[in-house]
Formats: sequence, structure tokens, C-alpha cells
Amino acid sequence: MKSLGILLSGRGSNFVAIADSIDAGRIPDARISVVISNKADVPGIATARARGLTALVIPSKGRPREEHDREVVGALKQHGVGLVCLAGYMRLLSPWFVQQFPHRILNIHPSLLPAFPGLEAQEQAFAYGVKVSGCTVHFVDEELDHGAIIVQKTVPVLNGDDEHTLSARILEQEHIAYTEAIKIVLAGRFEVVGRRLVAGQKAEVRMQE
Ligand code: GAR
Repeated sequence: MKSLGILLSGRGSNFVAIADSIDAGRIPDARISVVISNKADVPGIATARARGLTALVIPSKGRPREEHDREVVGALKQHGVGLVCLAGYMRLLSPWFVQQFPHRILNIHPSLLPAFPGLEAQEQAFAYGVKVSGCTVHFVDEELDHGAIIVQKTVPVLNGDDEHTLSARILEQEHIAYTEAIKIVLAGRFEVVGRRLVAGQKAEVRMQE
């Protein structure tokens, strides 16, 4: 049984999509061991508790990054977590955190990276006037929204869109993409050469500088 740890900061719809996929057997042989928020009173924590999951608040405000990260990593390890899924976790991880889980931290971002990293990616894409946007699930490395890409989904920008309707259609694809990416990583059927992840039958993770 693979143990997932979810980190979030807000609404938690990607967390719910992952939990639903586990419950429905779409992500086999996995469970969510702990959900951690860096902010108190967020919907994601209430939802996790309502689902009977262990949910912790480890506030980050005003704390040095690595000091906070050490507490989060301690909680993840205490709960036996093998794969960390950032699901709307709006805080950069310290290099120390990333090194604790090599190729075992995933993030979802609401744009086709490397376009529009950072905050409010959907609004950035809409304002830029792109005709296609989407979402990206990627490994987390020491840089913001940067690690090797696991899954991307495209979403067309329609004439009648505003940033809200576009965000909503991207979010639907996020929920599908995250399950796909977790399945690929847990199955280990991929290889990473440089920045390129190739999903297939090989049970090998080969990272090159
Ligand atoms: C999602 O759109 C996610 O892609 C984004 O925050 C939202 C969280 O929603 N993450 C980032 O922008 C990370 N750079 P959720 O709490 O409903 O999953």
C-alpha cells in the first residue's frame, strides 16, 4: 500500500479529486495518510476531516521557510508518506524539503509550463491572449514550477471566455491530470532523461544533469 501525503493551502478540489480516485480504485493500492495545510480554517482541511482522514494545520506565516518545512517533513515521515502531492499548496519548498523526497514530490499548476509560472496562472494566460492553455503535473525541484513534466492537458480559450470560465475548464482537466500522473509515478513505469519523462513499460528512473 502506497502512502500519499497531501499539502494544500485552500479549497482542496485537487485533493478531493485524488481522494475520489483512490476510493473508486482508479489509483490502486494507495491511501492518503495525512493532509497538511499551512493555513488554518481552509476548506481543504474541513473536507479531509469530514472524510475521516488525518488533517493537520502547520502554520507557516512569519516562520523561516526551512524551520516550517522541517515540521512538515517530520509529520509526513511520521505518517509513513512515500509520495507528496502538492494540491494548491501556495508555498515554495526549501531545497532541504525537496531533497528529503527525491522524485517523490508532485505539483499541479494551472498553465502549460513553462508558460505562466507563479501566481494566478490562468489570469496571466487569459490576459496574454493565448488561444490554448491547460495544466501541468510535474516533479518538484528547487525552482518554482520547474521540475520534469509528467502530464499536461490542453484547454482551448474560447471567444466567450473570461478568466473565471477558463479557470473552471482548466480545473476540470487538473482533476483528471493529477490522477493520471500519480498512477504513472506509483507504477514506476517511466524514465526521466534530462527533463524528458517518457511513460511506458520501463521501471527505471534515470535522472541526468
Ligand atoms: C489549482 O488551480 C492549482 O493548479 C493551483 O491552485 C489551485 C488550487 O485549487 N496551484 C498553483 O497555482 C500552484 N502554483 P484546489 O485547492 O481547489 O485544488
